[in-house]
Amino acid sequence: MTDKNQMPREEGIDHSLSLLREGYLYILNRCKSFNSNNFETRLLGKKAICLKGKEAAEVFYDIEKFQRKDVAPNRVIQTLFGKNGVQALDGQAHQHRKEMFMSIMSREGLQYLSDITKIQWETALNKWEQMDEVILYEEVKEVLCRTACKWAGIPLEEEDVKKMTKNLAAMFETPTAVGPNHWLGRNARNKVENWIGQLVDKVRNGEINPPEDTALNRFTWHRDLEGSLLDTETVAVEVINILRPIVAIAIFINFTILALHHYPEEREKLESSDEKYAQMFVQEIRRFYPFFPFVAALVKKNFIWKGYNFEEGTLTLLDLYGTNHEPEVWGNPEVFSPERFADWNGSPFSFIPQGGGDYFMGHRCAGEWVTIEVMKVSLDYLAKRMEYAVPNQDLSYSMVSMPSIPRSKIILKNVKRKF
Ligand code: HEM
Repeated sequence: MTDKNQMPREEGIDHSLSLLREGYLYILNRCKSFNSNNFETRLLGKKAICLKGKEAAEVFYDIEKFQRKDVAPNRVIQTLFGKNGVQALDGQAHQHRKEMFMSIMSREGLQYLSDITKIQWETALNKWEQMDEVILYEEVKEVLCRTACKWAGIPLEEEDVKKMTKNLAAMFETPTAVGPNHWLGRNARNKVENWIGQLVDKVRNGEINPPEDTALNRFTWHRDLEGSLLDTETVAVEVINILRPIVAIAIFINFTILALHHYPEEREKLESSDEKYAQMFVQEIRRFYPFFPFVAALVKKNFIWKGYNFEEGTLTLLDLYGTNHEPEVWGNPEVFSPERFADWNGSPFSFIPQGGGDYFMGHRCAGEWVTIEVMKVSLDYLAKRMEYAVPNQDLSYSMVSMPSIPRSKIILKNVKRKF
């Protein structure tokens, strides 16, 4: 292969620490200084390519060009993903497993989820009215843990709610942690995997019978391409791939209340507008605030793109945060403006907070519709159905820690239902 173009290259032996130090801005900062939407660097001791923007997303989501097997570092598998999950599959095996996920994302399934979410917000609001102070992030995680378990067909006893919430949250709060916090995430995963595994066995031997359209039922009885049931551990990992990220929506909900606080004119618009504006607002939350910084893949076989050589096995990162802040596409990306979604063309490559491309063929987040649905119900409560005071506190959030959570976790006082 001959190099037609040489990508800008970051000199040095390894930049993994810079990535941790600069977090969401690592790729964006270098793209700015190289004046290029791609550059070469060294991460985890190896050559790596970083990409940003719509065109890059198109090539990154070409399943002929990139693979996911052997990409995630062990510490991420031990906490965030779990072993043998859909994230690390490729080709037909991936598509078959992904269909299993998408089969529960029906219109009826999402309506049911929305109904459950409303019931949980109602219950929480009754409780919060009695409290001096509500730490929103902690409370919403619990609301969402109850919602997730109910939707997924997991029988959760009241006395286990706090423990389950804590364990599911530890899986997404710790993937970049080192030392004790990393072990917290690992232990949490082991405990929940064991417990869900026991439920899977109970479903298989007829002791419990979760409703047909739930994740616990569908995944337990799912057959792989050879016609075999998945092993218990893999079913547990995939059920957790539903539960854990639903609890993680608490992060977007915290950013929602932050936006309502920082942009009070938005609250007025939401109060007087229809569902379309709520949808635009939710989209802007997902575009504007940091959540998943990037996604990673390995080059499947040598290819040339825009004159650049991509060599088989090269680690490649696609910047999600940076792509959602491309000035050419989003014009003044640092301005919070839901109106930008009024005429948005719906490209699956320029707006990628939860990955891009096709849900069924590629690795785009299976739970994007779930996320939007849960956020819309939550927004309805936060903007229209409750009153509260936001006392002085540290409302800043980091552009380095991943995931980024507002520092005070958003403290609310005098929470009251609006009539
Ligand atoms: C909380 C907000 C969420 C964010 C920011 C988010 C983000 C992402 C991202 C960036 C990916 C990887 C895309 C890629 O590899 O190209 C992903 C994958 C995935 N997400 Fe989400 N997600 C969220 C919520 C959810 C929810 C609620 C669910 C399930 C109900 C879910 C289930 C999944 C699954 C199963 C995958 C793996 C898909 C595959 O590999 O084919 N996510 N998500």
